[in-house]
Amino acid sequence: MQTDNHARRILLGISGGIAAYKAPSLVRNLRVEGAEVVPVLTRNASKFVTETALQAVADHRPRTDLWDAEAEASMGHIELARWADAVLIAPATADLVARMAHGIADDLLTTLCLATAAPVFVAPAMNVKMWEHAATQRNIDRLRADGVTVLGPDDGEQACGEFGPGRMMEPEEIAETVTAAVGTPRVLAGTRVLVTAGPTREFLDPVRFISNRSSGRQGFAFAEAARNAGADVTLVAGPVHLATPTGIERVDVVSAQEMKDAVTERAAGADIFVSVAAVADYRPHTTHDQKLKKSDQESDGIRVALKENEDIVGAIAGVEPRPFVVGFAAETQNALQYAREKRARKRMDAIVVNDVSDAAIGFDSSDNAVTLIHGGGEVELSKMPKRAIARRLIAEIAALYAVAGQG
Ligand code: PMT
Repeated sequence: MQTDNHARRILLGISGGIAAYKAPSLVRNLRVEGAEVVPVLTRNASKFVTETALQAVADHRPRTDLWDAEAEASMGHIELARWADAVLIAPATADLVARMAHGIADDLLTTLCLATAAPVFVAPAMNVKMWEHAATQRNIDRLRADGVTVLGPDDGEQACGEFGPGRMMEPEEIAETVTAAVGTPRVLAGTRVLVTAGPTREFLDPVRFISNRSSGRQGFAFAEAARNAGADVTLVAGPVHLATPTGIERVDVVSAQEMKDAVTERAAGADIFVSVAAVADYRPHTTHDQKLKKSDQESDGIRVALKENEDIVGAIAGVEPRPFVVGFAAETQNALQYAREKRARKRMDAIVVNDVSDAAIGFDSSDNAVTLIHGGGEVELSKMPKRAIARRLIAEIAALYAVAGQG
């Protein structure tokens, strides 16, 4: 695992199989995970995916030819092999696997595979019979023995209409696996980060409650990104349907009161507290022990008296010593202005505002678009997957936290 702070540099080798059409999506997923990508195509790969499509999504011009004088002049192939933190070949055809297994270096990609000292990953993609063939299995065993990591292949329906193993693993999964294996910048190493996520439920009776649309995705993505950045993470989660990310301590709560107790108990031990949860501002004044009957209600409808929940983030920020406090703000109008006021009122070090009137971001969507507001300025992050938002926020918050520590 590398611990320096530059973006992970990945040489993405693309060989000539139908799954090569997924290469632009793989490049995008690698970039979401914070990697810098140079695509390298074999001659046959160019028949399935264009250099133009790759150029549009990658940071660098795709490379294709060992004898391209112009490309070699800017970064020669040995330099390129040294530059990489990882070499990933996806899709890896049966032919490419065979050439790698035999140490053949007759084009740019196979030459790079021999010249690099970086870890090598292959994601095979081929017809099921070709995958199961003894020669391919021998070559795969050989690659594994040489230290190459083999990703997949997945089982399922293939482009040729057959079923079985041979489909390339999904781009998102490949990107996550490879970037996790080569590490992300450890900007939070040694810190303890407390994160809240998801909604709370405020019960009226045993079966009815007041809640909101928070899925927990943004908070879980934040917790995961903090862990990847080296933090020791505790995640206090409201009721959500999300798996616990590995290596993270999870505390499940239901109501705002339970969330407050869980956070208060742990805040003193945290360096950074990030309140992503959509905590209910109010709860029913009375929680009935038995299910309310229709007949119990008044003829002109039911009235529910509400009382205010205590503000968790405000309570933590208001007591010294305290962690570095980052809140979130879900707004539907005047987002920036309201968030600036909220940051000041709740004495937060920083606040992350999302305009939840836009259905494509915020609550229960896979993307978000936010502005981070802090004492020294504002940083706008345009629409991108919540994982990418989380990773970008971590970089900003780690820098703010480091400066606050010096002050
Ligand atoms: O969960 P997802 O579906 O991924 O959606 C993500 C999100 C939209 C929930 C998230 O990005 C977000 O905006 N979270 C904050 C939502 C919210 O409650 O905003 P608010 O403006 O009402 O609260 C401001 C801050 O005070 C928040 O940090 C909140 O956690 C905190 N708060 C609020 C009430 C309360 N009683 N105690 C608190 O600590």
